[in-house]
Amino acid sequence: MPQEVLLWLQPTAGGIYLDGTLGGAGHSCLILEAAAESRLIGLDRDPAALQEAAEKLACFGARVSLHHATFDQAGEVLNQLGVAGLDGMLLDLGVSSHQLDTPERGFSFRHDAPLDMRMNPTAGITAADVVNQADEAELTRIFFEYGEERYSRRIVRKIVSQRKDSALTKTGELAELVRQAIPGGYRPSKIHPATRVFQALRIHVNDELGQLRRGVEAGISLLKPGGRIVVISFHSLEDRIVKHLFREKAQGCICPPRLPVCQCHHTPDVKILTRRGIKAEEEEVKQNSRSRSAILRAAERC
Ligand SMILES: C[S@@+](CC[C@H](N)C(=O)[O-])C[C@H]1O[C@@H](n2cnc3c(N)ncnc32)[C@H](O)[C@@H]1O
Repeated sequence: MPQEVLLWLQPTAGGIYLDGTLGGAGHSCLILEAAAESRLIGLDRDPAALQEAAEKLACFGARVSLHHATFDQAGEVLNQLGVAGLDGMLLDLGVSSHQLDTPERGFSFRHDAPLDMRMNPTAGITAADVVNQADEAELTRIFFEYGEERYSRRIVRKIVSQRKDSALTKTGELAELVRQAIPGGYRPSKIHPATRVFQALRIHVNDELGQLRRGVEAGISLLKPGGRIVVISFHSLEDRIVKHLFREKAQGCICPPRLPVCQCHHTPDVKILTRRGIKAEEEEVKQNSRSRSAILRAAERC
């Protein structure tokens, strides 16, 4: 959503912007081009993304600094750089096309590859660790909560029975097992039957929802007055978190309603700029089908 990001972030000359999800640096590049002499601090938890971004942004020289960090660590990065506040922050959530299209990263059931799914392949547990080691109740919760998969129990029973014989190590193996676990007439027709399970595992392996909560909170606290935060989500679980956090932070008085006079003197941290989530234009959806599920929300620091 390039135009929408510029519209809501409103990058201005000389401003300091943080892209917490650098990826291929498409958005970062737009921000740097739109705002003369602006500075961009780019974070990504994936070293491969940082490398790609570094090449793409090399032409902007010292205006750019890139860091291997998660976006909930934005405060620490700014401290190291001696930056006191931001004019804007962007989070474009989820995996990049590069990650999805690199078979050995294990994000996609379209290629048979090791079950990994870590955005940062240098740390943390893999999807194979989860599938082979989590107990039955925990796996069911992961598939149900993060994938909204109604056949979670059946799928997990099949996984548990399979892993008694041999560990599941490949994406293809898991995708086929999920397909078999969902009764024939109930398999989704528009998406692969394993889509929800893969989404759930990815969210769990990367603690995506925890990152999002902490990242948005940190982002808001790091903005200068008038600074803006823009978040693009790709599914309802993410969008719900952003919507509720923005609402909570936009609240003024939080006294119980029975008190006649405000005693908390609480003031809002942000003003919500997008009452409803903004969707991608038809034209963009035609060119990039992934943008169909994108929802953008923006808020401004008071
Ligand atoms: C959808 S892509 C971003 C694409 C980017 N906006 C562009 O224009 O190319 C998401 C990127 O964010 C990174 N990412 C996801 N969650 C992250 C987190 N919590 N902290 C840092 N990077 C994260 C992923 O590794 C991936 O490279």
